[in-house]
Amino acid sequence: GKGIAVFTSGGDSQGMNAAVRAVVRMGIYLGCKVYFIREGYQGMVDGGDCIVEAQWTSVSSIIHKGGTVIGSARCKDFREVEGRMKAAKNLIQRGINNLVVIGGDGSLTGANCFRNEWTTLVKNLLDKGEISSEQANKCEYLNIVGLVGSIDNDFCGTDMTIGTDSALHRILEAVDAIVYTAYSHQRTFIMEVMGRHCGYLALVSALSSEATYVFVPEFPPPEDWESDLCKRCSEEREAGQRLNIIIVAEGAVDRNGNPITCEMIKDIVEKRLKQDTRITVLGHIQRGGNPSAFDRILACRMGAEAVIALMDATPNSEAIVVSLNGNQAVRVPLMKCVDRTLGVAKAMQDKDWDLAVELRGRS
Ligand code: F6P
Repeated sequence: GKGIAVFTSGGDSQGMNAAVRAVVRMGIYLGCKVYFIREGYQGMVDGGDCIVEAQWTSVSSIIHKGGTVIGSARCKDFREVEGRMKAAKNLIQRGINNLVVIGGDGSLTGANCFRNEWTTLVKNLLDKGEISSEQANKCEYLNIVGLVGSIDNDFCGTDMTIGTDSALHRILEAVDAIVYTAYSHQRTFIMEVMGRHCGYLALVSALSSEATYVFVPEFPPPEDWESDLCKRCSEEREAGQRLNIIIVAEGAVDRNGNPITCEMIKDIVEKRLKQDTRITVLGHIQRGGNPSAFDRILACRMGAEAVIALMDATPNSEAIVVSLNGNQAVRVPLMKCVDRTLGVAKAMQDKDWDLAVELRGRS
């Protein structure tokens, strides 16, 4: 059977365990040897106990757990060619030449680079006598399939990334809770949500919580946003509302690309409107907790599809991601998605807001 390894990399997200479980079980079902790599790329470089064969029951009782039970890390060693040589050796010695990477765009790009230099790495290891020619032949090519795990929904090419729906549940629970206390004291609450470069969590939570105003990185507010914000807040109060909720994505900026922070907003609301104002920063609570049903099912479908894609892979096939398109799990070229994701970042950097919104909108 084929040797497959699965690992999680970068920031964790709810649903990663369901994806790992699906990869392991679909792999075993199809007669493969499936390995966990613990602690992401670091475990691949370190080898030893970090790369272990998975059994059907090793993934029992994890579908409901948040985070990633096999660990995740940001890894400096893998950025150096010596680190990648070690990683390649560790994989080849175990007969692994199929990888399922669960992570964000950085982790998936890393996997693609690894795949592109694989032939050179194999040759070098063989020349140095670190692997046998039999091992080298078995692992002549490296096949890569990516699954996007990120609460930010910041990856072009999929409608939803694994973890976003659960993070939204967390955020809405928090906003709903805040609303009661805000109502009692007629207060304005400014709530910061995650999303360094992506306003999805902020936008969707604002829409579903009846927030007064929302700040996102891709679509800055009007030039004179201070007056616009105050106008909206006071209009709502005059119409009889006892509170205002303002949602701020952590990466929010103005039209010149300068950060808009919760403190800045609080200052303006207090000074201009004399409203009693508080800030709540949700932080990593959003990445914690159990995955929602949606994320569990999404991850199961994607994990299973990833293994099938590896079975179909030929020496010439490109690295792909399994993504959600409508209600279908589909395969899309990895680098096409990465390039489009980087395109959004570039448009934001260039302050071309129309382009940023357009590119972000095209999933
Ligand atoms: O990309 C996911 C994310 O949760 C972002 O929303 C956030 O900015 C970042 O990770 C936080 O990273 P860390 O957990 O390393 O502090």
